[in-house]
Amino acid sequence: MRAFTGEGEVATYIPELRRAAPDALGCALYTKNGICIGFGDKERMFTLQSVSKVVALALAVMDSGEDEVFGKVGMEPTGGPFYSMARLELMNRSKPLNPMINAGALTVTSMIGGRTATDKLERLLRFVRELTGNEQLTYDRAVAASELETADHNRALAYFLKGEGVINSDVEPLLDVYTKQCALSMTCCDLARIGFVFGHEGRSPETGEQIVPVPVARMVKTFMVTCGMYNESGELAIKAGIPAKSGVSGAILGSVPDGMGIGIYSPPLNEKGNSLAGVELLKRLSRHFHLSIF
Ligand code: DON
Repeated sequence: MRAFTGEGEVATYIPELRRAAPDALGCALYTKNGICIGFGDKERMFTLQSVSKVVALALAVMDSGEDEVFGKVGMEPTGGPFYSMARLELMNRSKPLNPMINAGALTVTSMIGGRTATDKLERLLRFVRELTGNEQLTYDRAVAASELETADHNRALAYFLKGEGVINSDVEPLLDVYTKQCALSMTCCDLARIGFVFGHEGRSPETGEQIVPVPVARMVKTFMVTCGMYNESGELAIKAGIPAKSGVSGAILGSVPDGMGIGIYSPPLNEKGNSLAGVELLKRLSRHFHLSIF
């Protein structure tokens, strides 16, 4: 599959992401017996970017409750780009359409439990360490700082939403948490384990402990199907049929219900903003192992 890495473009709007190796391709499959099988650049660390939106969503619903979260953010897909502001002003009550676009994700992050930005970040790190089983996991400081410096679109979205009363916290500390959330750094195998936990009703593969409540794990997978791959979600549902979430770093999280967790990393993106080789790989994995849920 590495031949596909020559075709896309590495994201550059977050300056630090430019440094990614354009020919990198890694994949890990976390399987039923707790074994993680890795291929290619499986040891390479990368940041989650928008893949973190599913993690933050699960945590915000666990901390603030479904009614609070979906009182402020909708559940409908959008064909628009992830940074879009256009619909906010056109819609009633300025409710972001879903938690996978930036307006929705910023609102969701504001509902993670904790009084201060440091508390929220600690809470998020504890949760991701549980999901991955990796106690060392942290965020990439250089990527977080690089995004914070250039986050003017997200800053604009957050101030607008604060003005509308959708976001209630201060914008700068919120952006600080959000950019560190997007900069959470891991390997394909860490990512695949997150997919496995969501795929197995939120339970730890080792202890069976409930890390995420069953309805929350189900809801997260449903959002991955309807809006996880932006305006490629429909096509991917048909061609792969695996709940999946992408990020501009080139990361893709896949979560097969009662099946494997998938972590893919390849930085060059297709014109929809999803990892080009990653999407191809996901389709082939699905065909080969008959993974479609439909
Ligand atoms: O907020 C942003 O713009 C980035 N931290 C994440 C965007 C992203 O990954 C969109 N996904 N494909």
